[in-house]
Amino acid sequence: MNAPLPVEVLKQHLIDPEICIRCNTCEETCPVDAITHDSNNYVVDPEICNGCMACVPPCPTGSIDNWRLVVRAEAYSVQDQLGWEELPQDKPLPVDAAAAGEGGQPMPAPQAESGLAQAVAVTAAAPGAAVPPWSAAHPYVNLYTHKTPITATVVGNYRVTGVDTESDIHHIVLDFGEQPFPVLEGQSIGILPPGVDAQGRPHHARQYSLASPRDGERAGYNNLSLTVKRVTQDHGGAAAHGVCSNYLCDLAKNDTVQVIGPFGHTFLMPNHPQANLIMICTGTGSAPMRAMTERSRRLIGTADIGKLMLFFGARTERELPYFGPLMKLPRDFIDINLALSREPGQPKRYVQDLIRERAAHVRGLLADRNTCIYVCGLKGMEVGVLDALRDVVVQSGEDWSILHDALRREGRLHFETY
Ligand code: A2P
Repeated sequence: MNAPLPVEVLKQHLIDPEICIRCNTCEETCPVDAITHDSNNYVVDPEICNGCMACVPPCPTGSIDNWRLVVRAEAYSVQDQLGWEELPQDKPLPVDAAAAGEGGQPMPAPQAESGLAQAVAVTAAAPGAAVPPWSAAHPYVNLYTHKTPITATVVGNYRVTGVDTESDIHHIVLDFGEQPFPVLEGQSIGILPPGVDAQGRPHHARQYSLASPRDGERAGYNNLSLTVKRVTQDHGGAAAHGVCSNYLCDLAKNDTVQVIGPFGHTFLMPNHPQANLIMICTGTGSAPMRAMTERSRRLIGTADIGKLMLFFGARTERELPYFGPLMKLPRDFIDINLALSREPGQPKRYVQDLIRERAAHVRGLLADRNTCIYVCGLKGMEVGVLDALRDVVVQSGEDWSILHDALRREGRLHFETY
């Protein structure tokens, strides 16, 4: 009698559409281009995904970390996944397939089981770390989801750039009243804009970094702040109406907002004494830097805080969010370096130019294992900043690739770019 052919089982990688905030991190990270998206969902092509896990640690929500055992011939296709509103239930495997999945048949499954420890090893090619600094506080994530959002009340909304400039950037304060919403500096939240998209579906959440520290925009209050730029153009400069940014920038005091999150478990600040921060940002990428700076400022006199060095890029002083309050901070508390690209009468400068100009200081901080580096803002700055850091290190006769690996392994170099 012929034995039945063993059925091939696949541990299929899927993304939970109910938790995903469509931030594109996974698609950018995937080394084999297995992740794609449409206006509805981010999905994983089962024909391409090799389960390398590179996309798992950077995902701020954990929606990426979903797996289903399926018969390979019946794997969920890209088209199936694009139409989902939620993940399908687990389907029982046929008996012979289940046996194969338990070891009878080699399983073309992920190289590592789901989990951060294994994933860290395979994300070495990413520019930043997949782990937080060793002394970071433990974050809460996904307390509120698309299905169970929390309602916040707007308690403040004001412009933080010159009114005569093109950059309409708002500082928006949301209060959670009696409802728990614990956060850390470097985390983000999702905002659910009201209304529906062109297909008649509710809008997806948009992600914003916190601009306030863990103990509230106002210390001791259950509130937080965001830094939101009104989007009126797409990346190519064509007119475009940002659904969520315009909604947020137009909010009035006492309006309510649907919020999900918090998100993020790696872009977190160190908590140990003498920890130094190098913060590099452009525009609204200043939000997490404001949060970390304010956290440190509130610790002055109570804790042994390290050095803070800020590189901040904007078109002009009037387009640099929080310019006034920033310049009032004591110079012995934070070393501020402003890179202005369109200030009349001044040469165009980017943050990477200033990193090179301040090479000696940057090198000194990089030599200290208590230093963590945070980069947030325009995607384009990522390469420029890495090149500048490399140049600074190489100038002193050191090996950048060794230091870069250590910074990633030790959770000391973090990127959040868009
Ligand atoms: P630029 O004047 O060349 O656009 P924005 O106001 O668009 O958010 O940009 C914030 C700042 O970041 C601006 O000064 C902008 O300069 C600058 N910038 C643009 N591209 C890069 C890049 N690749 N690296 C560093 N800074 C950049």
